[in-house]
Amino acid sequence: MKVSASFLSCKDIYDGISLLDETTCDYIHVDFIKGKFVKGKEIPFRKLKKISKFTSKRLDVHLMTDKLDKYIPKFSTLNCEYITFHIEATSNTEKYIDLIHSYGIKCGIAINPDTDIKEVEPYLDKIDLVLIMSVYPGYGGQEFIEDVVVKTKTLNEIIKKDKLTLILSIDGGINNNTIISVKDYVDMVVAGSYITSSDDFQKRVDILK
Ligand code: DX5
Ligand code: ZN
Repeated sequence: MKVSASFLSCKDIYDGISLLDETTCDYIHVDFIKGKFVKGKEIPFRKLKKISKFTSKRLDVHLMTDKLDKYIPKFSTLNCEYITFHIEATSNTEKYIDLIHSYGIKCGIAINPDTDIKEVEPYLDKIDLVLIMSVYPGYGGQEFIEDVVVKTKTLNEIIKKDKLTLILSIDGGINNNTIISVKDYVDMVVAGSYITSSDDFQKRVDILK
């Protein structure tokens, strides 16, 4: 299991990202909130850019904004493996898939807990990752929404049936218990507070892996 670690819940995000960098997590998950798309803590791009220098790991960027024309180019200057945007944030999905790919960066599409997987199905052969939200985006430390498990199962079946190459990731409320219900269907988990609430980050990463 790949682990993308989020520092959103850390009291000191500089310390948090430095400690995550020392673990065997695969990516650093960067949550970016801007504007009306979701309510939550806005960390400005210039600060995230500074923080990203505290890790040598590739970034897994999660854009929670509809200002995609502005922020995809900005984030493309960082060490990104994935840039993921929300399907609910735009009616011009293909444009942003192409824009992310034009920088040689893998493209993810995120879907909220109440968004049907039918919305993302037309794009599955064009993207590299689906980020299934298991909480409503905005904050770390929320409770896992069990209802989304069926989406991971169905998407996994479609990927196998159509021999697609994209991966499935799940974001929100992941811990040693909640991972059990999705571990057979997803390739990656995003985990924040489960890792960063421990004084041994590596141990928590090992358990998830
Ligand atoms: C929620 C964010 C998540 C969050 C995960 O808006 O997208 O990435 O930081 O944190 P936990 O694992 O604490 O739910
Ligand atoms: Zn996220």
